[in-house]
Amino acid sequence: MKIAAIVGSTRKESYNLKLAKYIQERYQDKFTLDIVEIGDLPFYNQDTENEPTAEVVEFKKRIKEADAVLWVTPEYNGTITANMKNAIDWLSRVDQVMIGKPSWIAGASMGALGTVKAQAHLRDILFAPGLSSPVLPGNEVLIGAVHEKMDENGDLTDEATIDFLDGVVDNVVQWLEKNYVVTN
Ligand code: FNR
Repeated sequence: MKIAAIVGSTRKESYNLKLAKYIQERYQDKFTLDIVEIGDLPFYNQDTENEPTAEVVEFKKRIKEADAVLWVTPEYNGTITANMKNAIDWLSRVDQVMIGKPSWIAGASMGALGTVKAQAHLRDILFAPGLSSPVLPGNEVLIGAVHEKMDENGDLTDEATIDFLDGVVDNVVQWLEKNYVVTN
């Protein structure tokens, strides 16, 4: 099974990027996680959507090839980042590669609520007609106070968080295999 990950922060030391890498390594026996860069995408403009740059073409290709998408979102001013919204806007147009493709969501922040508002917005956005992505019900991976739960290598150190994530990943894999992914 191949899952693409879209990380909403382009910061070098991003906790959300580290979380994506942690998921990539810890669950490598369950799925391949392709972490797809969005920092080089041009700002979406409807005038140019039919003549996309090479970065846009490559980005859409990697999403199209994936069985599902993991959105790893920070929270900026109570919502997703502009970078993530820009990526979504590209995906929602022309060949609309997200339509019918399942999604699941995780996010980390230093605040107590662990990106809950951003995730609620993201869930709603993914149901827009140009995306029509079924989102894994429940299983909200909200990692608050992440600076106290992750070490400098990006490994989670909080046992309760790791146990919860293990459970969510089992649910994700079952949900995908049962409804979306043919495995043999
Ligand atoms: C933040 N941060 C933040 N945190 C939060 O829990 N809710 C919020 O609304 C915001 N708003 C916000 C706006 C802006 C412009 C910045 C730069 C930051 C803090 C944010 O959670 C923190 O910087 C994370 O470390 C960002 O994620 P990455 O880059 O570590 O993945």
